[in-house]
Amino acid sequence: MKNDFPILKQTIYGKPLVYLDNAATTQKPQCVIESINYAYSHFNANIHRGVHYLSRVATEEHEKARKAVAEFISAKSEKEIIFSKGTTDSINMLAWSLSEKENFLQEGDEIIISSHEHHSNIVPWQMLCKRKKTILKVIPIIDDLSLDIEAYKNMLSHRTKFVSIAHVSNLLGLINPVEEIIRLAHEVGALVCVDAAQSAPHIPINVQALNCDFLVFSAHKMYGPTGLGILYGKEDLLNDLPPAEGGGEMIDHVTFEETTYNTLPYKFEAGTPDFIGTYAFHSAIDYINQNGKIAQISKHEAMLTEKLEQSLLEGNYSGASIKIYANDLHKAGVISFNLFNKDSKLIHPYDVGMLLDRQGVAVRTGHHCAEPLTHLLGVPGTVRASIAMYSDEDDIYSLIKAIEKAAAMLI
Ligand code: ALA
Repeated sequence: MKNDFPILKQTIYGKPLVYLDNAATTQKPQCVIESINYAYSHFNANIHRGVHYLSRVATEEHEKARKAVAEFISAKSEKEIIFSKGTTDSINMLAWSLSEKENFLQEGDEIIISSHEHHSNIVPWQMLCKRKKTILKVIPIIDDLSLDIEAYKNMLSHRTKFVSIAHVSNLLGLINPVEEIIRLAHEVGALVCVDAAQSAPHIPINVQALNCDFLVFSAHKMYGPTGLGILYGKEDLLNDLPPAEGGGEMIDHVTFEETTYNTLPYKFEAGTPDFIGTYAFHSAIDYINQNGKIAQISKHEAMLTEKLEQSLLEGNYSGASIKIYANDLHKAGVISFNLFNKDSKLIHPYDVGMLLDRQGVAVRTGHHCAEPLTHLLGVPGTVRASIAMYSDEDDIYSLIKAIEKAAAMLI
């Protein structure tokens, strides 16, 4: 499969590239790269606006992509798929729209997130709470770093209006029990958004089976282009929400006095959408489906994640020790770790990352946009290795050898 990804064929500092930063962004197969070229070369014209041929083709392709996304997550209807700029944009749109909805939030109402959240699933809710004088509550973690579901049960009340939760932690790779979290929230009448940025590339998602009210993810983390995201919402809920942005496309009629809004999904898509990006994302979804669909990819990645964890534990680090966070728990494609020297002092993850880079191995270091969770781990950051469907055992072997060399230099 690596042959389909031109970027993976290169050498870095004279060493073959080992790309293990897939939770940050995935590489693109040739077909996705070519699809961008094809779209600009054959049907670049603004969509939903022209009666001319190119505009009709561009519109058709854009709507075909929406259908492919709806099928990918088993949504009931294409109307439930809103194109955004990315997961962050989707959450911000949702938080803004919820705060603008009449009579939805009263002062003192509560929003629940978890300790596992990425900043993009924290900050928009903090901003909403400031605007609406609502209270942000955070599900704590227990000793093994998984979420404290008992504490969550105790947090829920008639004041809980919304729960927004990571399906998979971008720092730990842990898969959260979102089915249970959603069911419990619904029992008190709260709505739930699932942040699927780190799960959509790895785990089959069926929004109807999950029964989530909203779900968000990004194209670039699943072999598609950057700058494109998805906001899924149940049709009746999206119909009830006010638009988050105003402009062209999202309107029905405009006068200087008043505007009526378009139907779904266009009500939430102000301005010219990234129709070249949606065409490329469609190509990425086709590529995933040609390669066994997410269910099969998920099996390959689960085997590899286990192998990665085991190999990390078995490495020879010249007397340094390794700590894997949330060791032994079920993860999806992401492992965070740190090295400690003989005196149990942290070897700074940045130093490890730099030395891995010099050996051609790309990992992410730092707090991974999950600063509160990093603080809970009691470290300034971690080294994070994250896999994708094209990752293989050679990548793991190269990573371990590179960490062993780095440890020998840093100990
Ligand atoms: N959200 C991306 C990550 O976790 C950027 O690395």
